[in-house]
Amino acid sequence: MIRNVITPTTANASHGANAPHAAGAAGAGATAAEAAAEAAIPSLPEPRGPVSEAVVALLAGDASSGTGQPAEASAAARRADPFGDDLHLALHACYELHYQGFRDVDPGWEWDPSLLALRAELERAFLAALRAETPGGDDVQGVLEELLVEPVNATGISHHLRRNGEMWQLREYVAHRSVYHLKEADPHAWAIPRLRGRAKAALVAVEFDEFGGGRPERMHARLFADLMEEVGLDSSYGAYFGAAPAPMLAITNMMSLFGLHRALRGALVGHFAAAEITTAPGAERFARALRRLGVGERGVRFFTEHVEADAVHEQVLRRDVVGGLLAGEPRLAPDVVLGVQATGLLEERFEAHVLDRWRAPVPRTSLRRPLPRPA
Ligand SMILES: [Fe+2]
Ligand SMILES: [Fe+2]
Repeated sequence: MIRNVITPTTANASHGANAPHAAGAAGAGATAAEAAAEAAIPSLPEPRGPVSEAVVALLAGDASSGTGQPAEASAAARRADPFGDDLHLALHACYELHYQGFRDVDPGWEWDPSLLALRAELERAFLAALRAETPGGDDVQGVLEELLVEPVNATGISHHLRRNGEMWQLREYVAHRSVYHLKEADPHAWAIPRLRGRAKAALVAVEFDEFGGGRPERMHARLFADLMEEVGLDSSYGAYFGAAPAPMLAITNMMSLFGLHRALRGALVGHFAAAEITTAPGAERFARALRRLGVGERGVRFFTEHVEADAVHEQVLRRDVVGGLLAGEPRLAPDVVLGVQATGLLEERFEAHVLDRWRAPVPRTSLRRPLPRPA
């Protein structure tokens, strides 16, 4: 049975049953530890090269000081690897100012013109690389239908973990993904004011589910935090920013890039559709992997929830969000295709990075530093 899945036609009817709690941010049943983790503000991460060094140095200062964009940072941004650690840590630091910010960082940096100018250089390089590395086209239905067919001999991370993955690998995977899942569906919310009519109503219906249908304990970000705690990880927002390598940061940076630019609303919608289509089969394998490794049901729930929810979300995205957007703005088809293909590209790069390290003759960490053992 599908629970907690609100389609555009049932959203209003379901709203009463899912009335929001009047309790604080962590919900009525939250423990003090959960509330503390939810309130945590991340520290600025360690720089990974000249561009991120310049960004982190700026953010450590006062936004009103008028420091200006260092010319060397701008030149370094143009030379940086568009898929590399330095560029993605710098971009990630810029984007996080629009989410939860950083401890002891002046919130005024969010709209600082010099920092935005540097961010624009990084975005240009990243977007150009995404376009260069994807085939393009305007066949939206074609690229979405390709995603519906799972390869028979697939060898991705979910297959590996289901068959013979080890606990340390599962914990690494969860730590990587926490960069996104602890702010699950926030980047997609940027699209709401950029859409109209059927596309807007449908996207908001899916977002309503992602944010727990008015119940904080059912927010997908909260379910992910529960999973982290079940496998002995720190569920504080941003706890693993510094450990996440470029292939993971690139995935969330892509979402923020598409979400924060109205011109890229088609790409954001394409990305969201691709993510929803590909999540359900993988979630089923992850749930089996977790049970095989002895993780309790509180941890498994994040994935079982997605097996159910995303089977419906996928259809709402394809039919109403993508369909509604293109009915009104058919010229955005190439951007929707870009969103689908860029998602595939970056997910493949991430999987290759992780599996390459786990399957080395002497397996090694896929994070920038190994995780401490669970307490
Ligand atoms: Fe979700
Ligand atoms: Fe979903």
